[in-house]
Amino acid sequence: MTPVIPMGKALSDSPVIAAAARQDRAIMSRAYSDIAFTPAVRAMQTRMGSRAAYAPLDHTNDRQNVLGGSEAEFIEARDGFYQATVGETGWPYVQFRGGPLGFLKVLDEKTIAYADFRGNVQYISVGNLQNNDRVSLILMDYASKSRLKILGRVKFVPADQDPGLMARLTMPDYRARVERAAVITIEAYDWNCPQHITPRFTESEIEQGIAPLRFELARLQKELQVARAELAAHGKT
Ligand SMILES: Cc1cc2nc3c(=O)[nH]c(=O)nc-3n(C[C@H](O)[C@H](O)[C@H](O)COP(=O)(O)O)c2cc1C
Repeated sequence: MTPVIPMGKALSDSPVIAAAARQDRAIMSRAYSDIAFTPAVRAMQTRMGSRAAYAPLDHTNDRQNVLGGSEAEFIEARDGFYQATVGETGWPYVQFRGGPLGFLKVLDEKTIAYADFRGNVQYISVGNLQNNDRVSLILMDYASKSRLKILGRVKFVPADQDPGLMARLTMPDYRARVERAAVITIEAYDWNCPQHITPRFTESEIEQGIAPLRFELARLQKELQVARAELAAHGKT
């Protein structure tokens, strides 16, 4: 979420910016703001009083458009992401793409890719991407309240065209037919602040979290069983 900075307030007064600073992160990468801050967006920022605060981004040389280690690790630890495309009517279309953990791969510091599994054969995203190769992704880790936004351009590679690439993207234990590879060249990315993300946990994360409790419960049940048996042996039940 773009920080809301009331008129007359300095950028550093914003709690969102303060949070970004605490995490040693820029408020937004130059590459991302170059794309996202369109003339209409800039005009709105001017009207609302936040333009001056973001202006220094226009003069930052570090574009931050290549993936670092923490981005790569985060991307490859996901089991799904939201992907927006734009159809030729101008309507945005968002779809959730899910798969086995790690199905979104980092090929290099500017490229990510996933195997596009055969699904309901509506082909809305694939169709949209024929005319406009731009995608906007949101990758969520609800457990750690983190999200990474990515802007990129998609190139599809048919499944039979590049066996080496397919071998890299196919998930051995996932029973799904791969129709094509979606290869995304990253134009920009941005970490958003954790505010307003409700922590949520997957079944396996919950299982891991409660494993010590299960262990303790089993130990106590066993202890109870022994104690009851002893009482019964003494005729006390
Ligand atoms: C048999 C079947 C398998 C599917 N497998 C997946 C899947 O692995 N991952 C996923 O996100 N959606 C899956 N879906 C749901 C959608 O079909 C899939 O997300 C599809 O790519 C939607 O694309 P679109 O909305 O761009 O047309 C599946 C649907 C069906 C009917």
